[in-house]
Amino acid sequence: MARDAHEKLIVALDFDRLATAVQMATRLAGLAGMFKIGTQLFTAEGPRAVERLAKLGAGIFLDLKFHDIPNTVAGAVLAAAESPGVRLVNVHTLGGKEMMKAAARAVARKKKRPKVIGVTLLTSMDEDALSKVGILGPPIKRAVHLARMAKLAGLDGVVASAREVSEIRRVCGPKFLTVVPGIRPAASKRDDQSRIATPGEAIRAGADYLVVGRPITAAKDPRAAAKKILQEMSTAMASRV
Ligand code: C5P
Repeated sequence: MARDAHEKLIVALDFDRLATAVQMATRLAGLAGMFKIGTQLFTAEGPRAVERLAKLGAGIFLDLKFHDIPNTVAGAVLAAAESPGVRLVNVHTLGGKEMMKAAARAVARKKKRPKVIGVTLLTSMDEDALSKVGILGPPIKRAVHLARMAKLAGLDGVVASAREVSEIRRVCGPKFLTVVPGIRPAASKRDDQSRIATPGEAIRAGADYLVVGRPITAAKDPRAAAKKILQEMSTAMASRV
């Protein structure tokens, strides 16, 4: 479990060039516990993005949200586990229990392995958008159901919105990791996110890790923006003890 605020902060490096991502990660040195490599950077630059960013010292969250048949996902999770510095890797819970079981089994015997977590519902989708793809009812109910399934399948945790974290912790226990994107400090833009929360709200809800992208990476002064978020996280952490 992360102890200090910066260990709980994961900065999403959603860039199309590795050089830009390295530049940003270097600017943020010491302020983030992990850097997140998502589909944009990985598609553009491939595994060398993981190798290069891992050299900077912070851990890597490889956010490729695998969603395929069990055998293919198991192979992809194993490949991620064998990449340098990867501490978190994820699959889509909507791929089903057998797929999640295969993902967990793929790395179960490895001595040093990343945590395998499941994306519940994208934080960019609200109840209306979810209903249009057949996911009916309040997002919290669906997210908690998917988190419970992920736990039963042997995953280490889930990606969920801050609004669902406390209920997921109640149902799945405090050791089941919750990784929370959709973080927006009070004065910042919502962008394409829907189910958002401030850094303080996410920490108070019990989030283990906060994923923050544009509020830091698109800020005029990313280092100052990260420090402000860390301050808000520290204050909320102190109020939880
Ligand atoms: O820029 P922003 O803070 O919105 O970035 C959030 C990051 O978290 C993005 O990289 C996005 O891919 C990722 N993410 C998300 N919602 C999920 C899972 C991952 O926003 N459910």
